Amino acid sequence: MSERDDFIIEARDVALSFGETPALRGANLAVAAGEIVAIMGPSGSGKSTLLHCLAGILTPDSGEVRFDGRRVDTMRETERSTLRRDRFGFVFQFGQLVPELTAAENVALPLLLGGARRAEALVRAGQWFGRLGLDGLQGRRSGELSGGQAQRVALARALVAEPGVLFADEPTGSLDSLTGEQVMDLLVASAREQGTTVVIVTHEPRVAACADREVVVRDGKVTSLTTERLAS
Ligand SMILES: Nc1ncnc2c1ncn2[C@@H]1O[C@H](COP(=O)(O)OP(=O)(O)O)[C@@H](O)[C@H]1O
Ligand SMILES: [Mg+2]
Repeated sequence: MSERDDFIIEARDVALSFGETPALRGANLAVAAGEIVAIMGPSGSGKSTLLHCLAGILTPDSGEVRFDGRRVDTMRETERSTLRRDRFGFVFQFGQLVPELTAAENVALPLLLGGARRAEALVRAGQWFGRLGLDGLQGRRSGELSGGQAQRVALARALVAEPGVLFADEPTGSLDSLTGEQVMDLLVASAREQGTTVVIVTHEPRVAACADREVVVRDGKVTSLTTERLAS
């Protein structure tokens, strides 16, 4: 049972090692629906591993992960991949757009994978281009986009299916500070507009300042506000 049912994501005592290397050693985090949480912390502290556990990409060795009250860590892989496709959006440091597809096709991809018709998916994808200042770039391939443009396309792709949760791992990490700030502003504005919960890993205090709350991962544990909240 959850202590509070308004937490959409909960990780309890999550531990995960890669061979001999412990990446997480009992991490706890609870995120409320609609909340934007920034995960900070030194390189190698376990931020990405935690994000991947929350998102059902990695399975912890021990501990529990819940999304919307359901155990993610014990789900079968097929069920988990459906959950990721239908309820989660992802943005990584390097956009990871499919190079063979146009920007519009990249954005439409989650809708197509979810069974939408191509024409309808492209219309819905197209609506994001104006919203994110990408007008006219629908037909470009990733090699013909600047880093900031590619990240905005990646953001559109992450949000097009209106996911419950957006997971972002250093989404501005490869951008200059001005471009990064623009991408971050768009990410926060879009998420707030859609009521999307956001879990964002970043080492940039300026990015974290856009969040509702910051937590810090150190040596595979979450420190600061979160643990106080869980204990209260
Ligand atoms: N796929 C992997 N194989 C082996 N070790 C890994 C792997 N991913 C992460 N690690 C190790 O786990 C620890 C935490 O990594 P990570 O979660 O990527 O940290 P962060 O995102 O905070 O930089 C580090 O010691 C890292 O080297
Ligand atoms: Mg990382």
